[in-house]
Amino acid sequence: MRRLYIKTFGCQMNEYDSERIAELLAQSHGLEWVEDPALADLLILNTCSIREKAEDKVYTQLGFWRPYKEREPAPLIAVGGCVASQEGERLRRRVPFVDIVFGPQTLHRLPDLIDARLAEAAPQVDLAFPELEKFDRLPQRPGRHGPSAFVTVQEGCDKFCTFCVVPHTRGREYSRPVPDIVREVRQLLDQGVREITLLGQNVNAYRGASGLVGELGFADLLRRLARLPGLMRLRYTTSHPNNLDEDLIAAHGELAVLAPHLHLPVQSGSDRILRRMHRKHDVATYLQKIQALRQVRPEIRFSSDFIVGFPGESDADFAATMDLIEAVRFDQSYSFKYSPRPNTPALKLKDTVPEPVKEERLAILQGRINQLAQEYSRALVGTVQEVLVTGPSRRSAEEWTGKTPCNRSVNFPGPAGLTGQMVAVEITEALPNSLRGRFLPLRAVS
Ligand code: SAH
Ligand code: SF4
Ligand code: F3S
Repeated sequence: MRRLYIKTFGCQMNEYDSERIAELLAQSHGLEWVEDPALADLLILNTCSIREKAEDKVYTQLGFWRPYKEREPAPLIAVGGCVASQEGERLRRRVPFVDIVFGPQTLHRLPDLIDARLAEAAPQVDLAFPELEKFDRLPQRPGRHGPSAFVTVQEGCDKFCTFCVVPHTRGREYSRPVPDIVREVRQLLDQGVREITLLGQNVNAYRGASGLVGELGFADLLRRLARLPGLMRLRYTTSHPNNLDEDLIAAHGELAVLAPHLHLPVQSGSDRILRRMHRKHDVATYLQKIQALRQVRPEIRFSSDFIVGFPGESDADFAATMDLIEAVRFDQSYSFKYSPRPNTPALKLKDTVPEPVKEERLAILQGRINQLAQEYSRALVGTVQEVLVTGPSRRSAEEWTGKTPCNRSVNFPGPAGLTGQMVAVEITEALPNSLRGRFLPLRAVS
């Protein structure tokens, strides 16, 4: 076996896991990641089961890969991630040509699973939840990163919102120890990474062992990482409003390196629906926290997740969600129609919202958030932004692409060798999905 192909669905934590799988298999089996699945000796599908469609996608994708199995020698096919965790044996029975099924917490055992599959000629399934073992067994990170990198610091969820599969597929909340995270971030910074995004299903529920002073909460982890030389920008996602405490709000005021942008999922602007969702927060507390963050960091921007058409959502409930959007002026969202998921309590609630109403509400919500995003983009025209250059732009070789502090993409012409630098760019134009700008060489910030 020489070549590996990985296809990833779902959240950034899955993207991080896929990267780590590639690093692990490069070390254990000398596998090289290729972009063409037809060339691969091992195909891995890292799956997501957050909504119904995501799951159907898995079966469709495996259908596309089926003809590869006719080849001599046939490549191995492995399925990991949240659908694997949820479906387990069922997935293997439904798709008998799958060789390996592994879970989000057993990906580090892939080298052994591959060897066992080759030795025994029988499919291998390992969906255990051995917390933290994964991180202990993954190799150090080799240097092939751009200027931005993800680092998972927390996994799992104890919150059990009534609509959500994540607590069932990803297991209970746990946090990596502080020294582990510091070591990984240091390594990445040594390799030229300048922006780190800390990941977790509930990243701000982080509480990790520290060698010296017992456990550290999330705000202290941020303070610890902010001191590392070379770090220019720190982000984190996804947060739960209930874990956004006073200390974390204070950290947003103290740490210049912390980006002035926060993704804070709210799901609905109606207290009645939030109760039915078992979110354990109400709209007033959510707004108070937004207010407190704006007090310590006036330029902070917010994005959020919304579900429309949750069972029992009335016109008034939806109107309350639209009011919340006006109050916060979110400028980005991940918003979807409610999708019934296996093993979740919301399945028992009567799905009262007709499909066309769900469609209409989603279109209204997304339309308004797009307008707000456009308004904000236009307001940026004429300002000078600190832009972290992520690489050459896709459109032209003489153009660069980078990110503003609030995570908007900017394209601008500029001299060679800017990748990984923080530069000053004057915003000249707001396009629907990006900004255009003018490089200001004398104002370069690094
Ligand atoms: N832990 C994060 C979100 C993780 S899931 C939080 O609590 O906010 C990512 C998003 O998927 C959720 O915020 C929710 O908006 C969406 N989602 C989860 N289950 C869903 C379902 N059954 N139907 C539609 N959207 C869903
Ligand atoms: Fe799912 Fe709720 Fe946990 Fe987020 S907090 S992962 S929405 S159960
Ligand atoms: Fe999907 Fe699992 Fe992430 S369900 S969103 S891959 S945690």
